Amino acid sequence: MKKTVISVIAAFVCTQLLAVNILVDTKGKGPAVPSTMYGIFFEDINFAADGGLYAEMVKNRSFEFPQSLMGWSSFGGVEVRNDGPFERNPHYVRLTDPGHRSKFTMLVNEGFFGYDFQEGASYHFSVWARACSEPASLRVELADPSADGETQVLAQQQIKVEGSEWKKYEVSLTSGQSVKDGRLRIFLEKTGGAADIEHVSLFPAETWNGGPLRKDLAQALYDLHPGVLRFPGGCIVEGTEYFDRYQWKNTVGPVENRPLNNNRWNFEFPYRDFPDYFQTGGLGFYEYFVLSEEIGAAPLPVLNVGMVCQFENPDPSVQISADELEEYIQDAVDLVEFANGGVSTKWGSLRAQMGHPEPFGLKYLAIGNEQWGDEYVRHLAPFVKELRAKCPEIQIIGSAGPFPGGEWFDSLWKGMRDLNVDLVDEHYYRDEKWFLDNAGRYDDFPRTGPKVFAGEYACHGKGYKRNHANASLCEAAFMTGLERNADVVPMATYAPLFAHVKGWQWRPDLIWFDNSSSVRTASYYVQQLFSLNKGVQVVPATVGGETIKGNDGIYANAVKDADGSLILKVVNVNESEQPLEASLKGFSASKAEVTTLVLDGGRAENSLENPHLIEPVSSKESVSSGVYKGKVPAKSLVVYRFRK
Ligand code: AHR
Repeated sequence: MKKTVISVIAAFVCTQLLAVNILVDTKGKGPAVPSTMYGIFFEDINFAADGGLYAEMVKNRSFEFPQSLMGWSSFGGVEVRNDGPFERNPHYVRLTDPGHRSKFTMLVNEGFFGYDFQEGASYHFSVWARACSEPASLRVELADPSADGETQVLAQQQIKVEGSEWKKYEVSLTSGQSVKDGRLRIFLEKTGGAADIEHVSLFPAETWNGGPLRKDLAQALYDLHPGVLRFPGGCIVEGTEYFDRYQWKNTVGPVENRPLNNNRWNFEFPYRDFPDYFQTGGLGFYEYFVLSEEIGAAPLPVLNVGMVCQFENPDPSVQISADELEEYIQDAVDLVEFANGGVSTKWGSLRAQMGHPEPFGLKYLAIGNEQWGDEYVRHLAPFVKELRAKCPEIQIIGSAGPFPGGEWFDSLWKGMRDLNVDLVDEHYYRDEKWFLDNAGRYDDFPRTGPKVFAGEYACHGKGYKRNHANASLCEAAFMTGLERNADVVPMATYAPLFAHVKGWQWRPDLIWFDNSSSVRTASYYVQQLFSLNKGVQVVPATVGGETIKGNDGIYANAVKDADGSLILKVVNVNESEQPLEASLKGFSASKAEVTTLVLDGGRAENSLENPHLIEPVSSKESVSSGVYKGKVPAKSLVVYRFRK
């Protein structure tokens, strides 16, 4: 009998995991955590800008797509002309009497994957127009073409166009119903003469801060409290060829005159036949700077280094040489003037005209994206020289190429050290194992020379590249190592940021959306938990004297926050829950605010249909005699905030 009891107890003891004993030494001093530590990277990929964050609902609003009426259906007297009022977007449409062959003259816009109109919501319509001779009358409608086989009109307004001068006409339309696949229709009424129309625009009346951005999507960015905003790419900075590289000067000034650009991702849809992805520049550099300010992030523009995408153009002879860079370098210097210059300077005065006389306080500028080879180092050198001389306030970011290791990476790092850039942009799109194995990547990194900007990263699940729970868990484990080394990695930005569910080229992405709603992925919550709890200074957190980077499946880091609280982040990648004892040396706390993000769903992910599947949960727990005792759920990220 006695023997049986002993063996039951022994079996019980064997199945109980020993607690992991984390010692947080609050008297020990680690690196300062800068405000830039966790940021966001915006690129116009996956319809992130036009059709996404930029709230314009009309596709091909200026008739500048290579097929002028792409996105439009036309009936009756519709003719595309090209001597319009906006020099850099010269196309417009002439609407004339349909004659006896057609009942009416009409243009129908399909929007970006249809129009999502909400019942009771108002929409702001505007159009540039002129009458050809006698006054003309336009009828503008929000319509639902799918209503019982018959088009239903949800809202309607008349516009009287008078005079031969181009003028902007504006009306507001309030939808009588909610529809998912609506259309915008513009009729030329028979009661008047012919009219020319250009830059046809429809925005929801309710936008982010009353500006041109979609409210829910900008709010999602704000809620991340990002320390830095990298924009506008990525590969679109490089372009497929020189002609379609991103040129910031084309994206400022009146929107009507910002020239259309091909989107470098136009031909990269795995499942869409026709390329209709162009950049209007409506979300341009001014808007990026304003957004940065509104969400409290330091702006970090990326400019072309005078090289086009090397993946698309492997032949080096395609690249211009390093002594032909005058225009590119001038663009960089002028951008600093646009952001920081006084209102009497050429570019500073444009910023003021656009509505922001105060400087934007630009501090960081990246030159080049995923370039490689000696050419890149040679191209970057004159930028560094000129920017150091003319813009000493700017920290220059060079690139370590597309991969986080290997020959290109090593030689680029050598080049970046020789040029003495301030930061080097490293990209890691790798699988689960890589993320777990690299939590200590920066522990022994040289503490002199350029710092690291983790400019693009996401765990690309092996065989399953989606925003699934396990990928997010691995990102969290890796991020504990970034944070522990905040002195060498002062900035990190997950990538990419946005994806339209009907127009994506790349995944995983941080936030998915359709035309009216959006979903925050598990990776979003990982980013948010790190960002909201980044603290201001790392303090040593160890197990048995060792930093915690995968010790028995546990990853951890601790920081002090500005308000005096102590934050411990623990990631448990094990299949089982892990008892934890955290000794808070030198810190007297009686309460812990605990935020738990359970990521044990394997391939589970949040979706528009099920957006709350994976979300953080908060609780309050007690601490006694400087020791917190609790359990870290299997496959989870837990953030403990201890208050004195
Ligand atoms: O984030 C998507 C792409 O990944 C970026 O454009 C590029 O820099 C990287 O290859």
